Amino acid sequence: MGARRDPRRRSHPWARPGFCLRPLLFLGLCCWETRGVATPDQVKPMITMEQLLWVSGSVIGEVNTFRVPLIAATPHGTLLAFSEARKHSASDTGAKFIALRRSLDKGATWTPTSFIVDDGSLKDGLNLGAVVVDSEKDMVFLVYTLCAHYNQCPTASTMIIRSRDDGITWSIPRNLSEDIGTTMFAPGPGYGIQKRYEPKKGRLIVCGHGTLLQDGISCLLSDDHGLNWRYGRQPLHGIPYGKMKQRSDFNPDECQPYELPDGSVVINARNQNFYHCSCRIVVRSYDACDTLPLENVTFDDTLVDPAVAAGALVKSGLVFFSNPAHETRRVNMTLRWSFTNGSSWWKEPLQIWSGASGYSSMTSLDGAGPEDAHSLFIIYEKGRFKYTESVSVVKISINGEL
Ligand SMILES: *[C@@H]1O[C@H](CO)[C@@H](O)[C@H](O)[C@H]1NC(C)=O
Ligand SMILES: *[C@@H]1O[C@H](CO)[C@@H](O)[C@H](O)[C@H]1NC(C)=O
Ligand SMILES: *[C@@H]1O[C@H](CO)[C@@H](O)[C@H](O)[C@H]1NC(C)=O
Ligand SMILES: *[C@@H]1O[C@H](CO)[C@@H](O)[C@H](O)[C@H]1NC(C)=O
Repeated sequence: MGARRDPRRRSHPWARPGFCLRPLLFLGLCCWETRGVATPDQVKPMITMEQLLWVSGSVIGEVNTFRVPLIAATPHGTLLAFSEARKHSASDTGAKFIALRRSLDKGATWTPTSFIVDDGSLKDGLNLGAVVVDSEKDMVFLVYTLCAHYNQCPTASTMIIRSRDDGITWSIPRNLSEDIGTTMFAPGPGYGIQKRYEPKKGRLIVCGHGTLLQDGISCLLSDDHGLNWRYGRQPLHGIPYGKMKQRSDFNPDECQPYELPDGSVVINARNQNFYHCSCRIVVRSYDACDTLPLENVTFDDTLVDPAVAAGALVKSGLVFFSNPAHETRRVNMTLRWSFTNGSSWWKEPLQIWSGASGYSSMTSLDGAGPEDAHSLFIIYEKGRFKYTESVSVVKISINGEL
């Protein structure tokens, strides 16, 4: 192994505002956000790397099944990949670990798996979850749920852990339910955001959903870097609220927020009961997720979806979206991109994997170099026959160059 530089020893050029106005201007993609959106001929996404991070079947740490992958990039340029390590079966309930692997070299190599949380032998153990990076304070939070299904346990708890050393060590779990109450809240699955623009620049936002009966989307907000958390004032309830849903009822479920350059937050959500379409529910908040107004809900007919957790990411002025693009089955992992803030999608998407494909999540690095400006990472559930077979990460070159 060659000498690998420790990224933490260097200053963080990308923490300086306006870095991309320096000699990188000519690189084009770097400065879309300040120079306007890229043109279609500059955007030719291509897979440049793929690796299986976890394989189910009791071969890694005797873990039965790995599911629900999350990925995040830290201010040091480290990639953190998480998943639920389901100890004894593929079931959503049951005992689990949270598995973590880190990459210090932009996804080329990954540390061995460490299990950073162990729920013991709970009947309804932990469920992921959302990772949220506070770039202003250089901290990473991971929010997860215990007893999300009330399976032989009376109370759901929302838990949070924090790392202040780039994901190497983690705090003991803090029980957020002591502050926000014990209403079941299932974050993500995906990432939470830190507001980059006004209103509420710096706010941490973690969105999630409730029980199937009391479903809908709500967001946890922190305006003091993760010390205090509260729910936004107005969630987006399912209809009829508090009743068992039928097919075609309105039931927004697992969701991923992202921030647009005008400071609004878009939440792209699973349409659990296929209201209006087999496609995604989209809600837009103009007050940093204090309110999720029903009047600003739309349905994105292009984003065909079998009811699943999907990925969404704003990168270099484009919006990206990943999901198994199929009306009924979890197959056909597909990446789409939008030149219009998500109001339309480029006509030729990129197929990532034709076979079994489940949950996915995306991230990108923010470094000053051209590679970071041109790359994004998709982590997803992948299989030949079943999407529970493995968790894979792909690196995408946005401009199609190596
Ligand atoms: C978390 O706090 C809530 C509210 O006090 C409590 O009901 C629940 O049992 C706690 N959960 C855990 C895992 O300690
Ligand atoms: C709904 O969206 C419009 C813009 O399309 C915005 O002007 C309005 O304030 C939004 N409504 C709420 C309640 O945020
Ligand atoms: C995969 O997704 C693409 C893009 O939506 C679509 O054209 C194609 O028909 C899909 N394939 C399958 C097998 O569903
Ligand atoms: C996207 O949103 C930004 C900020 O509101 C705006 O300046 C830009 O014109 C929008 N782009 C398109 C194509 O609508």
